[in-house]
Amino acid sequence: MPMPTANANANLNIPADRLPALLCAMPKAELHIHIEGSLEPELIFALAARNGVALPYASVEALRAAYAFTDLQSFLDIYYAGASVLLKEEDFFDMAMAYFRRAAADNVVHAELFFDPQTHTDRGVPFAHVINGLTRACETAQRELGVSGLLILCFLRHLSEEAAFATLEQALPFREQFVGVGLDSSERGHPPEKFARVFARCRELGLRLVAHAGEEGPPAYIWSALDVLHVERIDHGVRSVEDPALMARLAASRMPLTVCPLSNVKLCVCDTMAAHQLPALLAAGLCATVNSDDPAYFGGYMNQNFTETFAALPQLGAREAYQLAANSFEASFVAPEQKQRWARALDAAFAAA
Ligand code: ADE
Ligand code: ZN
Repeated sequence: MPMPTANANANLNIPADRLPALLCAMPKAELHIHIEGSLEPELIFALAARNGVALPYASVEALRAAYAFTDLQSFLDIYYAGASVLLKEEDFFDMAMAYFRRAAADNVVHAELFFDPQTHTDRGVPFAHVINGLTRACETAQRELGVSGLLILCFLRHLSEEAAFATLEQALPFREQFVGVGLDSSERGHPPEKFARVFARCRELGLRLVAHAGEEGPPAYIWSALDVLHVERIDHGVRSVEDPALMARLAASRMPLTVCPLSNVKLCVCDTMAAHQLPALLAAGLCATVNSDDPAYFGGYMNQNFTETFAALPQLGAREAYQLAANSFEASFVAPEQKQRWARALDAAFAAA
């Protein structure tokens, strides 16, 4: 059975009043961030003006006021509209750099960024503008902020498998610029099986594989993501708590779940933060992580996710904080030596707290 990388001797003797500061100060990796979901309303308006794009909102405030979501689809409709201001390589660079600055401020040392090329190429934006802008931002973030970044190309599951194959073809000349592929957008009615062949091809190409599953969709979609798509991480996966056999499987294999608490509350995946599934996932020994998903839309970046989640859930303490950060390194797509360096930095942050 794979073992967790967490250090059994880490200092977990942290007074409760020091925990919020430690949640913010501890080094961590973010593994579930849609870079288009980091577009703040101010940047949407600035890019719209720069590119001459008309927006159906009169002001930043009017746009922000529209962020009252009832489910995933009600969010996606606004999210895709917001992405319409992205046209040039520089726009993708500026968007990602704004995210990396926020990540660095939250002591995120590594981020794996999802991007949705079809949202852009279907509007006539060349694939090269998207990936070259994002790649340049990753290089700049490493150099100027000390934050490392990897890119994960997501297929939009409401579109066809044929469209996903066409996107993969467009992406292959840039194969060295992304580490893997994922599956996002409207989950209900679009099971993983729809993308079995394109994921099989990506696997042959040596790409890392992840998929959103069990956000709104049933536990059956998580089983399919594992057994049909052969993913290495499940994005969200919170509905696994409904299926004890699935929970046992996920725990035994230490299959990572990239959980996004503020997102789940904003999209009504769970009723309140106090009812969130994260404590149950950790208590069952799953390799759960905390992430921001679409921080510009859901009320916060990494540290906001950590502090609001821990404030609402008294079952979560220093042990869980340590475990979540350790899990984020364990579940990342970097070399084992780098994971060990970050794990040592995590121990140092707890020792100093
Ligand atoms: N695309 C951006 N955010 C998403 C989410 N939370 N679920 C599915 N697709 C997404
Ligand atoms: Zn997501």
